[in-house]
Amino acid sequence: MAAKKLLLLLPAVLFLLEVDALGKRSIDLIAAHGLISDGRLPREVIPNRYKLEIQPFPNDGNFKGTVKINITWVERTDEITLHADPALEIVETLVTQFAPDDETEKLSSTPLPPTPVAVKEITKTPKKPLLVIKLDKEYGQGTQAQITLRFNGKLFNDTSEGLFRHFYIDSKTNEKKWYIASHLRPNLARRVFPCFDEPAYKVPFEISIARQRKMVALSNTPLKSTSNMDKNPSWVWDHFDETPPMSTFTVGIVVTDFASYIYNTSTEDALKCVLQVKVWGRPDYISSLEDAGKKIVKSMKILEDFWGTSYPFPKLDCLALPNYQATRPADNWGLILFKESELGSKTTWHIAQELVYQWLGAMATPFWWSDAHVNHALARYLTAYTTIQLLDGTENYNNWPITMLYSIYYEFSKRYPHGKSTAIKQDSASTKTELVFRMLNYTLGEPTFKHAMQKFMADRQFKTFFGDDIWSTFTEQARNDGVLDPSMSINEIAASWITKDRLPVVNVTRNYQDNTATIHQRVYLRERPHDVPDQEKFLWWIPIVMIRQDKLNFTNSTPTVWMKKERQITVTDLPKSNKFIIINPEEIGPFPVLYDNDNWNMLAQYLADNKVRTTIPVNTRAKLLHDAWNLAYAGDLCFGTALNMTLFLRYERDYIAWDPVFTMIDHIGRHIDSSEVHKKFQSYVRLLLTPLYEELGNEPQEGESDGRAHLRSSSKVFLCQAGYKPCIDEAQAAFRKWMESDNPDEGNPVANQYICPVFKWGTNEEWDFGLQRIIKFPATRKANERTYLLKTLAGCPIDAWKIEKLLNITVLEENGNFTDNDVYLIFSMLTGGASGYTTLFNFLEKNWDVIKVRFENKPHLWNSLITSATTVFKTQEGLDMVSELYLEKQGEFGTADFVIEKALKNIKEETKWSNENLPVIERWLDDYLKINDV
Ligand SMILES: *[C@@H]1O[C@H](CO)[C@@H](O)[C@H](O)[C@H]1NC(C)=O
Ligand SMILES: *[C@@H]1O[C@H](CO)[C@@H](O)[C@H](O)[C@H]1NC(C)=O
Ligand SMILES: *[C@@H]1O[C@H](CO)[C@@H](O)[C@H](O)[C@H]1NC(C)=O
Ligand SMILES: *[C@@H]1O[C@H](CO)[C@@H](O)[C@H](O)[C@H]1NC(C)=O
Ligand SMILES: *[C@@H]1O[C@H](CO)[C@@H](O)[C@H](O)[C@H]1NC(C)=O
Ligand SMILES: *[C@@H]1O[C@H](CO)[C@@H](O)[C@H](O)[C@H]1NC(C)=O
Repeated sequence: MAAKKLLLLLPAVLFLLEVDALGKRSIDLIAAHGLISDGRLPREVIPNRYKLEIQPFPNDGNFKGTVKINITWVERTDEITLHADPALEIVETLVTQFAPDDETEKLSSTPLPPTPVAVKEITKTPKKPLLVIKLDKEYGQGTQAQITLRFNGKLFNDTSEGLFRHFYIDSKTNEKKWYIASHLRPNLARRVFPCFDEPAYKVPFEISIARQRKMVALSNTPLKSTSNMDKNPSWVWDHFDETPPMSTFTVGIVVTDFASYIYNTSTEDALKCVLQVKVWGRPDYISSLEDAGKKIVKSMKILEDFWGTSYPFPKLDCLALPNYQATRPADNWGLILFKESELGSKTTWHIAQELVYQWLGAMATPFWWSDAHVNHALARYLTAYTTIQLLDGTENYNNWPITMLYSIYYEFSKRYPHGKSTAIKQDSASTKTELVFRMLNYTLGEPTFKHAMQKFMADRQFKTFFGDDIWSTFTEQARNDGVLDPSMSINEIAASWITKDRLPVVNVTRNYQDNTATIHQRVYLRERPHDVPDQEKFLWWIPIVMIRQDKLNFTNSTPTVWMKKERQITVTDLPKSNKFIIINPEEIGPFPVLYDNDNWNMLAQYLADNKVRTTIPVNTRAKLLHDAWNLAYAGDLCFGTALNMTLFLRYERDYIAWDPVFTMIDHIGRHIDSSEVHKKFQSYVRLLLTPLYEELGNEPQEGESDGRAHLRSSSKVFLCQAGYKPCIDEAQAAFRKWMESDNPDEGNPVANQYICPVFKWGTNEEWDFGLQRIIKFPATRKANERTYLLKTLAGCPIDAWKIEKLLNITVLEENGNFTDNDVYLIFSMLTGGASGYTTLFNFLEKNWDVIKVRFENKPHLWNSLITSATTVFKTQEGLDMVSELYLEKQGEFGTADFVIEKALKNIKEETKWSNENLPVIERWLDDYLKINDV
């Protein structure tokens, strides 16, 4: 989730800040997505109950087992089809009938004694994990039987999937020790035992695990009894309590010799049943897990309170597994398996998330994978809810929801959202749905939200649900509570948000004569061109929550009115003309809001007054700023008005309010990079950030918050980018140590943050030193260090000489130390700034013939070169350059012909924007710099 930052920054700045890859939270979603079209079992025979016995042999790397499944015929058939991985060896199959079909039963008075059923044939379906048991004849509806299957399987040892075995070293004895555990999500139960492996088949399980006496076995429920094994005195069978109805993927099996801690919840409340939480880890690690136990107990209380029901098991085991390799924890019901680093981690949300899945997933289960999406989004929402309560204001939860909200604002307002990435698409769709839940919590009110969820859980516990059931429960509860007009349904409201790859923008125009306003909705588009087809068809259900200056009060988040898929509405009884209004405070709904200039200016003036600024909460301050800049960037708002909104930053020290500023400095800075205005903009950035940075101090302070640390590092990166002298001096001093070292190719002693400022603002000699390090980079060192150096070497300079030299060496001279991938990387890095792509363009024009020959057989490099050299110009001058080249070399672009045609179209759009906005920005900056004596 910190993760989401990735989407906010464009490539050139991306590598300057520490960012994670895409949030892990979407991994299971993508997996679920892949399963939507999976084949389904025939529904002729369904399971009622399982008895499962597993005996793992860790030393031999295999296991043996027996499963007894009681089944009922729903339709007449002579076949029983169930899941079993092809690698599972079936040793014996028995079928025993113990109840006749419905018709026979009506006729007969005596119960049927258990009768063996003749099995005609057992087939494994080729290449499919299916086992078909063909019986001697057809049996009718209502027939009941027990299938007994004995099987052998292999323990996985290179992945943490199915039933697996991993080793660790006990540091005290230096002994190599093993443990066995299971991870069956989403559909891996079939690798461990034959079963009806679909989430909707929820039935009770009785599980027995064989173990050596010195080990401990764990499963979903508490241990019921232990029995001796006749043939082998050093082994025993552990029998566990019967589980409530549950899906196959939640079955948990563990055999280990870990140490553990016990935590009991709510012993003070004698009426509530006591939940015993046990945290397990290898003896060396167990002391790092003390906090985890406390967090689990606290989170469980928060969740029990939220759902209004207690956890269904008397125990919960949480294990920290060394060498656990799956991306997500194995959230078996009552037995959760974490990576050591996650259970021992300082952060809290990993734990909260898995506990949420104990309810949403294990207790109430999405019927099929297509229903997993809503479930996933609701689980994300509740993870945030739990984490925020757990942190209790001591710390911020990744700026929730602001950071991820901004990322979907950027994504959905693109000409082509998500590009081709399914991962991004899944993740932003899920983020959007999560934000719809948040919107409902605000607009229906927390009591209604919670009651709806409690009702939902009470109705669906131990059962399954369809995605739409969640929305229906909200509709019902909201109508009961009188917070939703009977003509409206939450299903319809939610659908209007989650079925589109777009978000709306709301445009509020006040009429100051009669105190009314027209409110208008349309598709939010930010990147140009805005020629998205069918825009006029997009309409949403939008809650209009309004805050007014004359009765400033942010507690009530009930909408004044809903836009019911209406293009435009009018609201009346607004405040007097000298009082502002705010629509959609706290980002209640995921949409930006555009006002008329007068309202914006009233807001800017109010915010700039340090005495009253904080009467507007920080998320709303951030929103106002973020909306203004983005709408100006989109061409919908005058840039002078948007810049006025930054004046309050002079006093602002809350990092949530600052967070959008860095992204916008990056976006706008890049946009106006090629014009004279850019220098003035950099002075403005220095004026804005210097007091902040000086106040924060150069060095981290003991015990400071993550937010403050983040604010310091961001302001430093951006100040350096803008040429702040003390930063550049510091960077050069650090770099000099490298230049003076005896063997500079051994390693790089310079902190990453210093490299870009040196290549950007430093001397040619310093830059050249960097270039030599790449050329002489020893093969023994890490490749990603070289990549970082190459990215900065290409992406940071503003000096044409450096860029031309790099291109001379890599393209013209074909220096053997650079691969095609390096060249590709260099081209893409050069799109990050005007001097980069302009120099590349000039280089292309000057050396056209040579390059054409050189890239003759490398169309991907040629296309990438033409793309990088032509598409990102933003001004008339650039348009002229590219048009001229296009005319001059017509017919010679080859595979890149379509690139340049598209480029010309885009540059025209951008030029129009620049012509309109650059003079406005310049005028505003001139005034600002004059007032500040620059
Ligand atoms: C199946 O039902 C029969 C009859 O009720 C019972 O004896 C047997 O133990 C059951 N088996 C399982 C696996 O539950
Ligand atoms: C992992 O399992 C495979 C197949 O069973 C076996 O060949 C291999 O030796 C095992 N590796 C380890 C480290 O035990
Ligand atoms: C704000 O509104 C809430 C609920 O509508 C009310 O309880 C509270 O007293 C109001 N606060 C002020 C300062 O008016
Ligand atoms: C906002 O609405 C006003 C009047 O309703 C209209 O004049 C203006 O063009 C709209 N602005 C945008 C960017 O849609
Ligand atoms: C910016 O604010 C100043 C001072 O409040 C005001 O005079 C000016 O008109 C505003 N600029 C724009 C473009 O709204
Ligand atoms: C790049 O090479 C050209 C000749 O091919 C030369 O004129 C130019 O000076 C070189 N540029 C740099 C910065 O080395």
